[in-house]
Amino acid sequence: MTDDPAYKALENLGAAPLWRFYGNLFPAEPKSRAVPYRWSWQNLRPQLLHFSQTLSLEEAERRVLMLVNPGLTDPPATVNTLYAGLQIILPGETAQAHRHTSNAFRFILEGSGAWTTVNGERVFMAPGDLLLTPGWHWHDHTHEGTDPMIWLDALDYPLINALEAGFYEKYPQRLQPVTRPDDAGSRQFLHGRLTPTWLAPEGPNSPITRYTWAETQRALDAIADSAEGSAVDGIVLEYTNPWTGGPVMPTIGCRVQRLRPGFDGAGHQQTTSQIFSVVRGAGATIVDGVRLDWSQHDTFAIPGWASYRHVNTSGSDDAVLFSYNDEPVMRSLGLYRGQSADPGA
Ligand SMILES: [Fe+2]
Repeated sequence: MTDDPAYKALENLGAAPLWRFYGNLFPAEPKSRAVPYRWSWQNLRPQLLHFSQTLSLEEAERRVLMLVNPGLTDPPATVNTLYAGLQIILPGETAQAHRHTSNAFRFILEGSGAWTTVNGERVFMAPGDLLLTPGWHWHDHTHEGTDPMIWLDALDYPLINALEAGFYEKYPQRLQPVTRPDDAGSRQFLHGRLTPTWLAPEGPNSPITRYTWAETQRALDAIADSAEGSAVDGIVLEYTNPWTGGPVMPTIGCRVQRLRPGFDGAGHQQTTSQIFSVVRGAGATIVDGVRLDWSQHDTFAIPGWASYRHVNTSGSDDAVLFSYNDEPVMRSLGLYRGQSADPGA
């Protein structure tokens, strides 16, 4: 009986009837609040340039447009566990040093002449580079180039805040001192199978501070047409931590993939959420019946357990996608599941 006054009495006693919550608490399968979505580079870049003219970095600390999923507006997030933003820094600007327990990285979209200092090491940026800022590492930015520098900013704060493990601290000065050789992490470790013997892991993160696009492109070129790759993802490569062979950070996995001309991928679904940034080419990803058309520098989101498939709509050119996901979390908690699925449309 719905009007049984005992229900009201339960509320006042800090209790609730499980039988009224059962379906929501134990769904037959996950249903993300996030929706499939694409953020247009062509439309957002002018907005970013506008705010670079009207808002100083002193006012903003970081000048970033958050890519907010329409299903995840409060608190804002891009997929359930992960966030993406577009950040701009102008020539001559610096961004305040800070650190947070959220793991972060930058994927560079355009510009040159800027660097991020991470725990005393200057890490330089060029388009296509992946720069890691693992949790609780100090980081600040300096731009001494001639044109605006724009990158995709990625963080796991939706997950960290859900776990109520978020800490944040500003560095006492605007910029931290440089205490290590430039690009040391990349220079020491980016060779993959040749690892320095005098060093030992410091925490769970990859010691590679910058995975350069030159190195990524070399790997994609070397594989070229020698392998079929995955029916779902084409030639898909994981950025790895040389100490473990596993993901670059404990909460975020990063990948790059090449879809050959005309690639028409198999449908799939998995418990992991994914965010993509289009490096080059044009195509479409069909997600739960929604067609997301994409081209260079667009960002798009595939919620966890959504069914999807990728298509390269060009018959002559490769499409290259960078992506990141929460697979390390799902796997470490024993929650990873994946299977073939038809996204429809
Ligand atoms: Fe930060």
